[in-house]
Amino acid sequence: MSIEFNFKDKNVFVVGGTSGINFGIACGFARWGANVVVASRKQDKVDKAVQTLTELGAKANGIALDVRNYDEVVTGFDKAAEYLGGSIDVLISGAAGNFPARVNDMSANAIRSVIEIDLLGTFHVMKACFQHLTKPGASVINISAPQAFLPMEHQAHVCAAKAGVDMVTRTLCMEWGSAGIRLNSIVPGPIGDTEGMDRLAPTPDLQKAVGHSVPLGRLGSVDDVANAAGLLASDAAAYISGAILPVDGGWSQSGATAVMGKMSSILDKMNK
Ligand code: HXC
Ligand code: NAP
Repeated sequence: MSIEFNFKDKNVFVVGGTSGINFGIACGFARWGANVVVASRKQDKVDKAVQTLTELGAKANGIALDVRNYDEVVTGFDKAAEYLGGSIDVLISGAAGNFPARVNDMSANAIRSVIEIDLLGTFHVMKACFQHLTKPGASVINISAPQAFLPMEHQAHVCAAKAGVDMVTRTLCMEWGSAGIRLNSIVPGPIGDTEGMDRLAPTPDLQKAVGHSVPLGRLGSVDDVANAAGLLASDAAAYISGAILPVDGGWSQSGATAVMGKMSSILDKMNK
């Protein structure tokens, strides 16, 4: 569904914004008139994303960086501010990694890789962004996941990392409120046509079952999440800070728990 917001001449930076949900958010802001910069590890993904954002009419640019490397993140923010020609009005931080595995089947390095991308990466982005944010007025949105508050088999690394992400959101909303910066987390539910869903629900049957387990009866779309980001970044949300907002059709109330056993046994079979 096409929702209208006005972000004309606003500066938006989407970290981890070259595919899936975060790219959908970047496209939303491009359609709503913003200048948009995206960043992720792979230069080819960055270039492709920038091309699409430009075709949508945005003044767009991209940066290759790995959120695990603080120096790259700092340099990335300097470049983003230069490309945007001013401070950042809206920052989306959503770089993440995931693979389904039981703790007994993960090496220490496997656990570290997800914690480093999701949680440490969020810290790096938060620490580097402050000096570049519009003060007062900036809106920062961290992309979380239902795993932050729902324990899921095969997801201990993501559960721990995303719980941490939400606590960063909530703590910084207190530390940065006096500078006029709002911070919120969006918790996407199961979103169709994404890498995250394809990894967690790797068969069409399972994706269908997940869709049925959502109270609204369907998988979400990247536009559902983009619209929530537009809302949180808009003046309509001027007094919303520290919120952890599920955008999940109600899935995290109980549907997620109902379908977890089926997901788990399919993932166990695939990992054998
Ligand atoms: C066990 C695994 C594994 C698996 C990788 N590893 N896959 N262990 N089971 N299925 C181990 C590797 O063996 C290695 O450990 C360690 O993890 C790091 O792997 P690398 O490939 O060297 O890491 P890297 O190249 O840095 O890639 C990081 C990654 C990768 C997370 C492993 O998958 C990635 O880049 N993902 C980005 C895209 C992504 O995941 N998108 C989905 C986000 S969805 P050893 O010991 O061998 O060195 C999401 C939540 C979704 O976040 C929620 C849906 C509801
Ligand atoms: P995706 O397409 O794989 O998106 C992940 C993005 O992060 C990509 O642009 C990726 O690009 C980038 N990235 C990964 N590691 C990075 C790193 N170390 N440094 C910089 N950028 C990095 O996956 P998605 O499913 O759309 O997920 C997007 C976000 O939504 C994630 O935060 C995820 O946890 C959350 N989420 C997804 C779902 C879902 O249903 N899909 C549900 C809940 C939450 P590169 O590969 O080029 O680095």
